[in-house]
Amino acid sequence: MQENTKKIAIIGGTGALGGGLAYRWAKAGLPIVIGSRTSSKAEFVASELMFSLREASITGTDNRSAAAIADIVVITVPFSHHSAILQEIADEVDGKIVVDATVPLMPPKVGTVQLPDGRSIACRTAEVLGDKVDVVAAFHNVAADKLRGEGPIDCDVLVCGDKKAARQQIINLVDSLEMRGLHAGPLVNSAAAEALTSVLITINRHYQVPGAGIRITGELKPLDAPNN
Ligand SMILES: NC(=O)c1ccc[n+]([C@@H]2O[C@H](COP(=O)([O-])OP(=O)(O)OC[C@H]3O[C@@H](n4cnc5c(N)ncnc54)[C@H](OP(=O)(O)O)[C@@H]3O)[C@@H](O)[C@H]2O)c1
Repeated sequence: MQENTKKIAIIGGTGALGGGLAYRWAKAGLPIVIGSRTSSKAEFVASELMFSLREASITGTDNRSAAAIADIVVITVPFSHHSAILQEIADEVDGKIVVDATVPLMPPKVGTVQLPDGRSIACRTAEVLGDKVDVVAAFHNVAADKLRGEGPIDCDVLVCGDKKAARQQIINLVDSLEMRGLHAGPLVNSAAAEALTSVLITINRHYQVPGAGIRITGELKPLDAPNN
């Protein structure tokens, strides 16, 4: 592991999506701290992952402490808990990138798009956390189960955020998960990715797919690529 490798906190990392991200990033050699409402639960999940990955660096603690000791903080909690978790970590994330994977699913109609006021939840995150935090939205369209498998994942990840450099850092992290991360524009565009999750849930049900994902077609040539 390189000395400047960034530590990633996964808030709600005991759950389906957070646990999957922790598994894949740790397997790729990145240092991970799992956050939970209950630190003993996080410690237990971390020790289980350490048992299966051996060489990995994974610890567990409460959500706030996890945010405090990490360089990059990833939020993977249910929408119902989103506001509370922002308040809990707000004092610990200045100068950091916060990645929000929250989808505003409101049971029982999780197959129906229900963005509050038609807006992205990630924009709400940015408003609450303030200007000293770079909020990036990602992972809304990745089925958690896929992260537990081996090898490349057949899925693109739309990465939204107001600063290109912050988006690029997260795209690099997406690549380390063996998926393709794509610049998908400013944070407001996250509304599209958040909404798409309900479309994918509907497709999963209608066509009996275990975790449909998205693929952007066409040959992608970044504007800043050497040959452009
Ligand atoms: N699952 C997926 O495939 C998937 C894919 C894309 C995006 N997402 C989004 O990612 C987020 C997390 O999804 P998930 O499926 O990983 O969720 P989850 O497993 O149900 O919950 C994640 C963690 O959040 C905490 N939590 C659960 N219910 C809570 C509650 N009522 N109040 C407070 N904390 C609670 C728990 O951690 P502690 O008990 O340890 O605190 C739990 O382990 C959601 O916003 C979801 O829409 C999920």
